[in-house]
This record gives sequence, structure tokens and C-alpha cells, in this order.
Amino acid sequence: MKLLLTTLPAAALIFAGVQAFAHGDGAPQPVDTTALPDLEDDWPEENPYRTAGGDVYAKAIEIGASGYNQNCARCHGLEVVSGGLAPDLRYLSADWEGDEWYVERFQNGYTQNGVTKMPAFGELLGPKAAWAIRSFVETRPDDGALDEFAERLKEIRDALGARNAALEDGTSYDEMAEEIEALRAELDGIAGKVASGSGGEIADSAASRAVAALDGSADSLRRAEETLTIGLSAAE
Ligand code: HEC
Repeated sequence: MKLLLTTLPAAALIFAGVQAFAHGDGAPQPVDTTALPDLEDDWPEENPYRTAGGDVYAKAIEIGASGYNQNCARCHGLEVVSGGLAPDLRYLSADWEGDEWYVERFQNGYTQNGVTKMPAFGELLGPKAAWAIRSFVETRPDDGALDEFAERLKEIRDALGARNAALEDGTSYDEMAEEIEALRAELDGIAGKVASGSGGEIADSAASRAVAALDGSADSLRRAEETLTIGLSAAE
């Protein structure tokens, strides 16, 4: 099998991947959680990564995104926007009550009249993956949460794009650093106002991701511009 796969052209492999993603054979896909701190208590009352906050929460959201896409999206929808096949997980409240229900389903799945409607993930993926996926799910922005900021975000995107063009034309980053910092601060303010569906404090939106992209590195302007473009087109 391995030999056969390596001789397939890349396009066929990508196609096979998309097929597996769209339908899947139900086998849980492992989630690499080594970058996350180990847990003192596997199943505490509340999401331990939410409680930790800061960089740990950010890392958990990032890892949870890929864990979710590989294991949950085919039923619960891309970006956790349900297409009706299974409940919309964005609205499970980001508190112990929502967590309790989440963990119950994650560990045991759901079987109705002998038919598995949702497979059990607890044994195979373990608690770190469970909480990482939970972190991703509970930080999805609410429907239309970016709408009222969309116009300004487009302007900021264009302003960052113009700075990036200037950078490529030889203007130094330092010369523009103050303007870039003002745009970053404004983005950060908007990011803080975007509502999550879960009622949790943090919404992982195009605005917050653009703030994270603006880390002062050489390609940060380009990455922030791209992040906003993708986020704004997805919101439309
Ligand atoms: C094969 C389809 C399928 C997959 C894959 C799947 N689920 Fe589900 N899930 C369902 C269905 C159907 C329900 C509704 C069960 C019920 O009636 O309570 C559900 C319910 C849930 C619930 C309870 C939601 C609520 O509002 O009551 C949670 C939480 C949940 N799933 C999380 C996950 C997570 C996390 C993953 C990935 C690790 C996942 N599910 C993968 C089909 C799936």
C-alpha cells in the first residue's frame, strides 16, 4: 500500500485526501498535542486551557483547529458552522455546563437504536486533544459578528497592504513602525469586541489572527493583509 501511494501522482493523492475528508471512514485521526502542557486532572470541571488563558489557550485553539477539521468537521461543519447534519457546536456555552456536555459526548459519542450517530473519541484521542478541540470550538465568532467591523477592517487591510508595498519598494519597516503599531492597536480593539457564539470572552476572528500576524517579522504585513482578506471574504 505504501509503495502504491508513493507512485501515485500528487494530484491523485490530494484528491484522495479530499475524499477522505469529505466522507471519511470514521477512524479518529490522531492530534499532535505535544506543544500543550500536560494536565494535572484529565477531566476537570472546566476547559483547563481556557482557564490557563494567554499563550496556552492560543496554542490550544491552533491545535484544536486541525483536530476539529480532521475529526469533527465532516459532521459538525467547516469552521463549526453546522450544515444541519449534527448540532451547531458554536453555541455550547463556554463554562462548566457546556464543558460537561461536551466531554460527555466526546468521550462516549452517541448511539441511537444501535446506530452510531457519533463515534466515541475519548479513548483514542485523549483529554489533551479533547480540550484543544473544545478551545477551538468555543472561540468561533458568532454569526455575523464581524459585519459591523467589516468596512473598517477592509480599510485597515488596505492600509497594511500599502505599507507592505512600500516595504517591498525599499522603505524601512522602522520608518513605518509607528503607523503599523497604531493599526495593530486598532485591530486589537476590534478583536476584543467580536462576540463568540459560546459567550466566551475570546473570539478567534480574522481581526485577532491579524493582530497575531503583526509580530514585527519581515513578512508580518503580508501575512496580516492576507489573513484579513481571507477572513473578510469568508464572512461575506
Ligand atoms: C459521524 C458524525 C459525527 C462526527 C464525526 C462527530 N459528531 Fe458530534 N454529534 C453528531 C451527532 C449526530 C450529534 C447529535 C447527537 C444527539 O442527538 O445528542 C452530535 C453531538 C455532539 C455534541 C453535543 C452537542 C449538543 O448541542 O448537544 C458534541 C459536544 C459533539 N457532538 C462534539 C463532537 C466533536 C468534538 C467531534 C470531533 C472530535 C464530533 N462531535 C464528531 C455527529 C458527529
